[in-house]
Amino acid sequence: MECRDAITGRRSCRNFTDRAVEKEKLTAILEAALMAPSPANKQPWEFLVAADPKYNARLKETSEKTKHKLAARSGWKWLPTFNIDFLIQAPVLIVVLGDPSRSGAEQFLDEPSPGYLEACSAAIQNMLLAAHDQGLATLWFSLYEKSDVREIFAVDDDKDPVAVICVGYSEHPAATPARKTLDEKVKFL
Ligand SMILES: Cc1cc2nc3c(=O)[nH]c(=O)nc-3n(C[C@H](O)[C@H](O)[C@H](O)COP(=O)(O)O)c2cc1C
Repeated sequence: MECRDAITGRRSCRNFTDRAVEKEKLTAILEAALMAPSPANKQPWEFLVAADPKYNARLKETSEKTKHKLAARSGWKWLPTFNIDFLIQAPVLIVVLGDPSRSGAEQFLDEPSPGYLEACSAAIQNMLLAAHDQGLATLWFSLYEKSDVREIFAVDDDKDPVAVICVGYSEHPAATPARKTLDEKVKFL
């Protein structure tokens, strides 16, 4: 697949089938993650791969509670009815763990930036594109309390559970959410 096609064709999936993910495809996704850039090449990431429905069930249960808590706090009317059954459906969950101690020199700037988080995000995008390239569908999921994910997946306190990536096959491709134009988002200086 052309790089441009992967970038434009990738969509967030919220309706997975029960088709299992092939081991070699999963390996390719994880290898793509490892090729991401990171500050000073610190590679501040680890990946937990969960393919056991017990993890899906617990994540769904805790995320439902979180969802309602956030709905109350935010006042966002759509949130209580936002369906997160994809957490049950996805045959594989990849938990992306960041290591805050492996950030680059920019953590010491006057306005520090969290290099580990930026690197993990680059690794995640690599995974999403590699998955799409192989006909797989993904969702970058973040609607959870970190304490819940730490408990469910036995994550050490010094690691940051940056995201949970749902991986599987899509029932039907989602429409492309609208994007702003270059004119709105880019200023040539
Ligand atoms: C940091 C981050 C967190 C996200 N968290 C969630 C989430 O918790 N639940 C969800 O359904 N989608 C989540 N998404 C997916 C976005 O909703 C989605 O990327 C956006 O609507 C654009 O759609 P597209 O990915 O199909 O282009 C997240 C995306 C990012 C980058």
